[in-house]
Amino acid sequence: MCGIIAYNGQDDAIPYLLEGIRNLEYRGYDSFGCAIDSKVGIIIKKDIGKVDDVINKYKIQDFSSSKAIFHTRWATHGGIKAENAHPMVDCTHRIAVAHNGIIENWAELKESLGAHRFVSDTDTEVLSHLIEEKLNDGADIQSAVKDAFNKIKGSSSFIVLDKQSDDLIAVKKGSPLVLGIAKNGNFLSSDVPSFVRHTNKVVYLSDSDMVVLGKKNYTITNLMNRDVNHDVSTVNFSYQQAEKGDYEHFMIKEIMEQPGLMKNLESADLKNVVRAAELVKHAKQVYLMGAGTSYHAAMLGAKVLRENGINAVAVQGQDLITYRKVISAEDVFILISQSGETADIINVLPLIYKNQKIGVINSEGSTLAKDVDVLIPIGAGLEKAVASTKSFTLSGVYLTFIGMFAAGRGEEAIRDLKLMNINMYNLLVPSVLSAIDKVAEKIKGLENVFFLGRDANYITALEGALKLKEVSYIHAEAIDAATFKHGPLALISDKVYAAAVVSEVTRNDMLYNLQEVKARGGNIIGISDKNENVFDMFIRTQNGGAFTFVMHAIILQLLAYKTAMLKGLDIDHPRNLAKTVTVL
Ligand code: M6R
Repeated sequence: MCGIIAYNGQDDAIPYLLEGIRNLEYRGYDSFGCAIDSKVGIIIKKDIGKVDDVINKYKIQDFSSSKAIFHTRWATHGGIKAENAHPMVDCTHRIAVAHNGIIENWAELKESLGAHRFVSDTDTEVLSHLIEEKLNDGADIQSAVKDAFNKIKGSSSFIVLDKQSDDLIAVKKGSPLVLGIAKNGNFLSSDVPSFVRHTNKVVYLSDSDMVVLGKKNYTITNLMNRDVNHDVSTVNFSYQQAEKGDYEHFMIKEIMEQPGLMKNLESADLKNVVRAAELVKHAKQVYLMGAGTSYHAAMLGAKVLRENGINAVAVQGQDLITYRKVISAEDVFILISQSGETADIINVLPLIYKNQKIGVINSEGSTLAKDVDVLIPIGAGLEKAVASTKSFTLSGVYLTFIGMFAAGRGEEAIRDLKLMNINMYNLLVPSVLSAIDKVAEKIKGLENVFFLGRDANYITALEGALKLKEVSYIHAEAIDAATFKHGPLALISDKVYAAAVVSEVTRNDMLYNLQEVKARGGNIIGISDKNENVFDMFIRTQNGGAFTFVMHAIILQLLAYKTAMLKGLDIDHPRNLAKTVTVL
């Protein structure tokens, strides 16, 4: 996936786009490129490296233009090379195209464009030459873009700058693209926060929309040439959310926002939770779908639903294919996603188009949010660090609500939430933070760390292991402590460290399992509300009733963060990753 932002208006586009593209860097950071409209034609500057490195190299801040496109890339098609950075131009340098998505039939299209000069290995370059081909036949730019779009297969959004036109032309299908309407001009971007400092008026585009973005006005048509009228929405987050403030990284800012967000839940509108609870109560089977961290939330939700008497299973998005012969019309689906744009889930939506769908989603204007029957926005606000933190705990809380409300345990759920919020005051105290520092110091040089838990704590252990891998590059493996004796115990020696997540419900069995590890020389880091003899190191957590997983998750997120800090890593931009995964 990639990030694109463009501006066309009466102001200088460059300061807006510099700020905007920095805010989109979470979407990819292999290379940066821009197309700037100028009197002498389109200026293209691009190279591999982080956004700021390339900006500084070409002194992009010294340019000025009222129309430009900036792009940050996460390589999918073609390696990380300067020539593969976007935008792509045609043979005559008349147009420049920045693209987010995948063109599945690029090979056959490229073959049909044999006479054109290709300079990159990307699928995107097919677009610039397809448009050029039509322009050469005498088409105007809008028809040429439309024609190109009709020829490509797969999910794609792209923006075209034509040096002979005053407008920018953009098309959306599958990959996100939003329109921002500002006082002196308009934005097109992969997400709202990239321009929210300048306007909170947005139009969430739909698939097959084509936007002609003028300096003052815009028009939206669909690919059948019909006018499209979308509402203009007012977004309610501020640009401060898109900034780190006093924090060194977004990851730590987002971790530390959790106590406040949990407190806000006490006054949240739970009307859609009640609707969702009704739906799952009458479902034949509930499928909870997510990917990565959101899959862990799905596991947590499925467990809570089962415990409340509802037949529920968690599925990793793409795996739904294997269920296609058993899905029935009475099944209900819960889609969990921070971005609402994860391809693994979007790709299987056709399998469940007739089913009732509930969304537990952070990005309200996203593709998935638009597709569900009942939307529960988790209200995490902007989450920019590649490693998901607050969206995991908030999704987990909402899913727990759904399960408990469905079983008539709504009041108990609210009581537990309040209990957790009271105990939260004791979670991030100096003694706990320094215990986390000590453990981080101990594990920072290790190649492997185990995470153990039983029941819900196993799911939190999975999430803790994912966080450590993602930001500290230490191999971390979570194992259900009950299954340790069935094989993994063979790995234990006095060099091995295992972080054990312990809480009241499973304490006795868990301590028994830990003794087995200890007896073989293993070192145990206890993450628990009580210190135990079996622990070699100890980080105290707090009880949160049904929401104890939130306490554990916050501790494990901090452990991953602090370990990565000690290793001096680029925490908000872990190598090889991107925040939103819009490819299969
Ligand atoms: O936006 P989503 O919640 O659908 O994203 C799913 C995963 O790509 C995401 O959770 C990923 O695993 C995170 N980087 C984990 O921290």
